[in-house]
Amino acid sequence: MSSLHDDLLSRRADYPVLERKTYLASHTLGAMHRGTRERLAEFTDLWAEQGVVAWETWAPFVERVADLVGSLVGAPPGTTVMRQNVADLLGDLVVSLDWTGPRNRVVTSALEWPGSLHTWSQIGRLGGEAVLVPGEPDGISFDVQRMVDAIDERTLVVECSHVLFRTSTIVDLAPIIEKARAVGALAVVDGYQAAGTLPVDVVALGCDVYLGGSVKYLSGGPGNGWMHVSPSLVDRLEPVTTGWFGQVAPFAFDPENAYAPGIRRFAGGTPGVPAAFAAEPAYAALAEIGMARVRERSQSMTQPLLEAALERGFTVRSPQEPSQRGGHVTIDPGDSARVHDALIARGTVVDHRPGVGIRVSPHFYNTLDEALGVLDDMAEVLAAG
Ligand SMILES: Cc1ncc(COP(=O)(O)O)c(C=O)c1O
Repeated sequence: MSSLHDDLLSRRADYPVLERKTYLASHTLGAMHRGTRERLAEFTDLWAEQGVVAWETWAPFVERVADLVGSLVGAPPGTTVMRQNVADLLGDLVVSLDWTGPRNRVVTSALEWPGSLHTWSQIGRLGGEAVLVPGEPDGISFDVQRMVDAIDERTLVVECSHVLFRTSTIVDLAPIIEKARAVGALAVVDGYQAAGTLPVDVVALGCDVYLGGSVKYLSGGPGNGWMHVSPSLVDRLEPVTTGWFGQVAPFAFDPENAYAPGIRRFAGGTPGVPAAFAAEPAYAALAEIGMARVRERSQSMTQPLLEAALERGFTVRSPQEPSQRGGHVTIDPGDSARVHDALIARGTVVDHRPGVGIRVSPHFYNTLDEALGVLDDMAEVLAAG
């Protein structure tokens, strides 16, 4: 039977894990694109055959890949840098700011990615202070107005996720960014759970920094963190942990610090070349498809999944309104940790987050049957006791 999304389903063969598993875990590790293997072979061939001369290909390649991943969140060319991961990028951003003055606060939410909360928990050592907006009792969201109210002239940075990682809640960023701008604070958005599943336009959002990584819906694999910084801001930031690639002339080996203009000042030390080679085919596939279509396909499966889960009496810990939800649905059928382990043993790949339940993310390459089949599996495991 033909469907509206046959062109997307014809891409299933590009993602080998789909032949072996019912794969519904793209919110945590997107399926590997088969082109990754070839690209990595290209990387090793260059190394084997050209030795150090390979850098002439590698260095511009990493910058091209940064632009490609940036384009998937609407970042103009030359405004995105790649580093190992979010912790690394956020850390570098933090130390590029002066936390010792009267404007020394970061406003964030308790529902952020723990790695970022760990960084903020140490901000006192730089002279800063963290203000944490608590989660609502349902654990699904935080009160955006409360965050807006917490932002004032003492705020240096506001940091929050575009999509919350446990529950897939889309955060209404507009009032937060507007208030940050009004008081002169920097708006930093963690777009990890949005990139690759939502259409994002960092320019229209008006945030100062939008960062994330690639192991999730982008299918780029580990080692591919990325960060867009608004061109109007970037040259005023002076990272402490600058590396030689962040210098105006890396190959001059000048001991005097001279930041590269623009986003390259955040490049750090030697770039993760193999990671960029690994990621490129999956980024290119998403760029070809277009994020609006990925989103349409995702919603055509997540909404029936959510409704069917509720019909079965399972608890859903994600927003029920599709426009407020990202690419996964968090379902608690009861006894979630055990159910999760049994699903994995059956070849149905999802994941479990303590306190919320099982996260299920039909991505553009999944079928509705795969998504709904998870609920049958959950019910069978529960019935078997
Ligand atoms: C919202 C969010 N931010 C950050 C991360 C990861 O951070 P890092 O790249 O430092 O591992 C994740 C998940 O792994 C996430 O869901």
